[in-house]
Amino acid sequence: MPMFGSQSLSVDGDEDGSPTIQETRVENLSLGECSIPRAIERNKARRLKEKGKANDDYAAQQEVASPLRLMVEQNAFAAEEMNRRHEVRAKQTQEEMDDKNMQKEHLGLQSNELDQVPNAAQQTKLLSPQTKAVVYTARGQISNLNVWQSRKAVRKLPPQAGGAWPIIGHLPLLVRSSEPLHVVIAQLADTYGPIFTFMFGVKRTLVLSSSEMAKECLKTYDKVFASRVSSLASEILGYNYAFFPFSSYGYYFSHVQKMVMAEVLSPHRVEMLKHLRESEVSASMKEIYDRWTKNNKSSGSDKVVVPMKDWFAEINQNVVFRMIIGKRISEATNYTHGDLIGREVFKDWLRLNATFVLSDALPFLRWLDLGGHEKTMRKVAKEVDQVLQGWLEEHKQKKKRTVSNGVKGDEEERDFMDLMLSVLDDAKVTNSFEADIINKATSLSLLLAGVDVTTGTLTWALSLLLNSPKTLKKVQEEIDQNIGRERAVKESDVDNLVYLQAVIKETLRLYPPGPTLLPHASNEDCVLAGYHIPANTRVLVNVWKIHRDPKVWPDPNEFRPERFFTTHSYIDIKGQDFELIPFGSGRRMCAGIALALRIMPLTLASLLHGFEIATPTGEPVDMRESMEFTNHRASQLDVLLTPRLPAQVYEEYGK
Ligand code: HEM
Repeated sequence: MPMFGSQSLSVDGDEDGSPTIQETRVENLSLGECSIPRAIERNKARRLKEKGKANDDYAAQQEVASPLRLMVEQNAFAAEEMNRRHEVRAKQTQEEMDDKNMQKEHLGLQSNELDQVPNAAQQTKLLSPQTKAVVYTARGQISNLNVWQSRKAVRKLPPQAGGAWPIIGHLPLLVRSSEPLHVVIAQLADTYGPIFTFMFGVKRTLVLSSSEMAKECLKTYDKVFASRVSSLASEILGYNYAFFPFSSYGYYFSHVQKMVMAEVLSPHRVEMLKHLRESEVSASMKEIYDRWTKNNKSSGSDKVVVPMKDWFAEINQNVVFRMIIGKRISEATNYTHGDLIGREVFKDWLRLNATFVLSDALPFLRWLDLGGHEKTMRKVAKEVDQVLQGWLEEHKQKKKRTVSNGVKGDEEERDFMDLMLSVLDDAKVTNSFEADIINKATSLSLLLAGVDVTTGTLTWALSLLLNSPKTLKKVQEEIDQNIGRERAVKESDVDNLVYLQAVIKETLRLYPPGPTLLPHASNEDCVLAGYHIPANTRVLVNVWKIHRDPKVWPDPNEFRPERFFTTHSYIDIKGQDFELIPFGSGRRMCAGIALALRIMPLTLASLLHGFEIATPTGEPVDMRESMEFTNHRASQLDVLLTPRLPAQVYEEYGK
């Protein structure tokens, strides 16, 4: 006798093409009995019918008749049948339990008497044949409805932004807009909600714009969304994905990330290299003071103009260069090309990475190389590689000398390239790429990943302070109270400068340098916020939008560091509170967070301690954004600096 627990599906449909349940025993159900091809045809017909109604039916848009597609569909369908059978069983078990509980309540039974209530099967045994028929039909229909509903829920795709063109999708919208991408998709989110998709050419892209969605993606489904998207830049400029920030999630990525964290960017290693940061900041402070002295002597002015972006960049670059290859950028880049050209090559690398390449959206056009991007990328990749190869050879020579002299290198003086040379000698990871490639690609990723973002953030912070003189004064008061005016700032002072830290947090809230994080990609199907997200979906988490959500942040566009002492004192910046995630969260979170949170406050505190700051015109600073590799100010930031400490303090700088 068929029981509800053993009832299952054969796919004989109704006139709508929807499968219906027949009383077939599970044990008898094989794939053959599912009549899969017929069911697929009906399924297709239904989906095509629905396609007219909903333009967000992903599966319907993917209708391409090919043997491969049929095979894939057959497998998918078989898997779906299995799932449905499990669902039916689970629902039936639940129904039985509900029935029991209802009866228990009805009869006023105690919980230990529950098992004495006959189960559904036992109950049906007691029914007359006519009543049984009615019960089966009713239960069959209910299960049918449940299955169909759950099936629809699983396949439901997030809403898609309107206005997509065939093939090119939303490219016209993106290309025509004068706003940066994060602003365009923030405007779309106002219409379509915190989860929607748009078509980047033929590539469906999921946009998440609320802290809840970010949490689900980066925490609940962290591993599923831990991959990266493919792009021409990742392939050509990123050593064919050996550049680990562009690598998909897997053994290679995890291994390199672990090595980087253990050897160079862990809080412990970062702390060990404190002297590098202090010495670079100190040398740069001295450099401004010397410039001021010269200018003062020649013009009598008590002010000097300094282009701040360049000044911040020099410090950040030198710190990272010393950590990774053991020398400052000016000493390093004249190896092959001379200083200036070496720097330009890295700038080209960053610029090309941020360039829109048509074949990323429409891969079938790659062979045309429209705009000549591929050609330029190959040229720049070659030049960058020459510079890196030069440094690598130097490190190999140094290693040879050290080994032949029997001298053990000083652990603290070993830079990252040295370390990779010894670690990669026997690492299994070299199965993926040659050791030299891994060394060059990983060194490059560290040389370039952090400099632009820290420079951008410091420039924004200073701009915000210039436009908010009261806040600027408060920061300087805090520094004076903690450090006084008789000595320079040290890194250990930074922990006490809580208001300054709030200024940096508020800057990262308003101007996150990665406004959409680096694009993530799903490596398997999943259901996010009730929507079906197929594998290989590109994901942009619109951090910029999340950081300006008025439900979370009152007066979201205002610069108010105080909020971190009152309404938002609980908010951490290290990826635990999804209302503020400038470094991302989860497996692909920024690897350099410990370094960034040390170098930025030290640099800013030293500058504000050492100099009074004003704009050349006395006018507020222009705050327009320009999205390059990261989110930068559209214009340079030139400021007037006047010393505010006794002369002997400046004399100490740079020693
Ligand atoms: C203001 C400072 C910084 C900010 C706001 C920042 C932000 C970010 C963001 C948003 C990501 C992408 C996260 C994601 O895709 O989910 C990222 C990735 C990364 N960052 Fe940073 N970053 C900063 C500084 C640094 C520094 C100083 C370094 C190292 C020298 C660094 C190294 C990296 C690396 C290697 C990745 C790739 C991680 C991966 O793909 O797994 N960052 N950063």
